[in-house]
Amino acid sequence: QHFTAVVPAAGVGKRMRADIPKQYLPLLGKTMLEQTLENLIAHPQISRVVLALHPEDPYFADLPIASQPWLTKVNGGEERADSVLAGLAAIQDEEWVLVHDAARPCLPHQDLDKLLALAGGAVGGILACPVRDTMKLADEHNRVNTSLDRSRMWHALTPQFFPLALLKDSLQQALNANVAITDEASAIEWIGGTVQLVEGNACNIKVTQPVDLMLAEFYLNKLLH
Ligand code: CTP
Ligand code: MG
Repeated sequence: QHFTAVVPAAGVGKRMRADIPKQYLPLLGKTMLEQTLENLIAHPQISRVVLALHPEDPYFADLPIASQPWLTKVNGGEERADSVLAGLAAIQDEEWVLVHDAARPCLPHQDLDKLLALAGGAVGGILACPVRDTMKLADEHNRVNTSLDRSRMWHALTPQFFPLALLKDSLQQALNANVAITDEASAIEWIGGTVQLVEGNACNIKVTQPVDLMLAEFYLNKLLH
């Protein structure tokens, strides 16, 4: 069975503090975005990618990957959820859909295999990895309110994989209600849906700050060789 992946890549990368959006920074000789897209399409069950770009993106058109037949481009929006919805709107006649951050170039194919195995089942899900540190909940002065039960805490990663109609509907409802949504699962949770956590590798980092570039190169090098 083959699937389409929506890749939100319309962000500006504020926390990276670079001159250009982080998805266009180099990683092992290509842009991060190319590494992410090529890694996805190299998986035998991914046959199409819908890419959400900033409406004034001047970078993508110059990349060698720009004219690939498996790629559809759409204009992204103000928030990540808007970009994802724009991507979903470009997909018809699919039952399930993947959403994967452009800023996660180090996704192992074994993890994607595990996630895609949810297809056709009762609930969609996300890759996630268990929290390692002791977790504190703080008050507004950064004083500890309480320590949380780490054994039940997970980092939410991407890809996130849900039935297309359910995901569209949940994101739209969450946006209409002005709920802050930073991943697809939050929207599903918000309408009362169930989200399965599928344990993935911690190497699947979201490249966010300058130091993450070195880590991503290290992991990517391991994945590719
Ligand atoms: N994204 C998007 N549209 C937006 C905001 C984010 O498509 N309006 C994408 C980013 O390009 C990225 C992914 O969503 O691939 C995850 O978001 P994040 O890591 O927060 O990226 P940025 O928003 O670009 O970074 P920052 O929050 O530091 O500005
Ligand atoms: Mg952001």
